[in-house]
Amino acid sequence: MSILLSCLRLLPPELAHSVALNALKLLYQLNLSQLLFPHKNFQQEFTLKNLTFKNRLGIAAGLDKNGDFIDALGSLGFGFIEVGTVTPLPQTGNPKPRVFRFPSQNAIINRLGFNNKGVDYLVEKIKKRKFQGILGVNIGSNKDSEGQKRIQDYVDCFKKVAPHADYISVNISSPNTPNLRALHSQENFVPLFRALSETAETLAYQGPIFIKLSPDEKDETIQSLVMAIKQFHFDGVIVSNTTINRENISLKKNGGVKGGLSGRPLFNQSNKMLDIIKNEEELIKIGVGGVFTKNDFAEKQRLGASLVQIYTSFIYEGPQIIKKLLH
Ligand code: FNR
Repeated sequence: MSILLSCLRLLPPELAHSVALNALKLLYQLNLSQLLFPHKNFQQEFTLKNLTFKNRLGIAAGLDKNGDFIDALGSLGFGFIEVGTVTPLPQTGNPKPRVFRFPSQNAIINRLGFNNKGVDYLVEKIKKRKFQGILGVNIGSNKDSEGQKRIQDYVDCFKKVAPHADYISVNISSPNTPNLRALHSQENFVPLFRALSETAETLAYQGPIFIKLSPDEKDETIQSLVMAIKQFHFDGVIVSNTTINRENISLKKNGGVKGGLSGRPLFNQSNKMLDIIKNEEELIKIGVGGVFTKNDFAEKQRLGASLVQIYTSFIYEGPQIIKKLLH
C-alpha cells in the first residue's frame, strides 16, 4: 500500500486523486475491497434522528463530488459518505493547477471552485447506488449566480436531492467560489435559511439539515449563525471547511498559493470553532479538519462532535486510515 501511495505522489495531485479513486472503484468491482480492507470490526452503531450510522467516521464533501465512487468508498468501512458539493448546473471550476500538496505538513491547499457535473448527474448516480450506509449530499451554488439567483441555486439543489439524501449539508463556506462566504453575514444567511426552511417544509423533508461553516469567521459571526440555525430548526453544523489562514503552515516555496488549506494545520483552528459551540446541545456537530490519529478523532468527540469526517488524511494514508481511526 505504501509503495502505491508513493507512486501516486509522483503524479500531479488532482490526477493522483482521480487515479486512486478509479483504482478503488476497480477493486470494488472485482470484489477485492473487502479482502484488502476488511472492516467487520468497524461496527460501532450510532443512531441520530432515525438514521443509523454503522460508525461515526465519514468521508467529507469534495472527494466524491459527483457520486461516481459511492459504492467503492462505502466498501471501505466508512459509517457515512458525503457527496458534493453539487451545483444546479455542471461547471468546470478554476483553471489548473488548483490542488497543491504539502506532504511534510500533512496538508493540502485547493482552489477547485466547485467543479462538478451538476445536480441531475449526481441524482442519477445516487439512485443507482448499492451502498446501504448513510449518504449525505452537500449543496452549493454556481459560480456566476449572485443575490436571489444564488439562493435559488441552493433551493433547486435541495429539491432535487431531498428525495434521495439521508441528510443535506449546505455549503456556505468554500473560500473558492467568489463571495460565497458572504453568506456568513446576517443579511445574506437569513434569506437563504428562510428559503431552505420553507422548501424543506413544502417537501415534508424529514432528514437532518446541516450548515457547513468556515473556520475563518469571527466568534460573533458564528454565534449569530448558530442562533439563526436554531431559529430555523436546522439540525446541526459541520465544523469546518478549509481555511484561508496560513499561520499554522510554513510555506517556503509556495507562500502565495491561494485557496483553502486542509489537513493537520487546520486541526486546532477547526477545534477552536467546535469549542465555541460545544455547549449548543440541541445542535448536532460533525467535526472535520485535520484528523489523522485516534487521539484526533477522540478530541473532536470531546469537543462535542457526534460524527467525524476526514478528507486529507484519506488522501495521504489511503483506506488504512479508516482502520487506524476505528480500531
Ligand atoms: C475539500 N472540501 C470541500 N468541502 C465542501 O464542503 N465541498 C467541497 O466540494 C469540498 N472540496 C474539497 C476539495 C479538496 C481537494 C479538499 C482537500 C477539501 C473540504 C473538506 O470537506 C473538509 O471540510 C476539509 O478538507 C477539512 O478536512 P480535512 O481535509 O482536514 O480532513
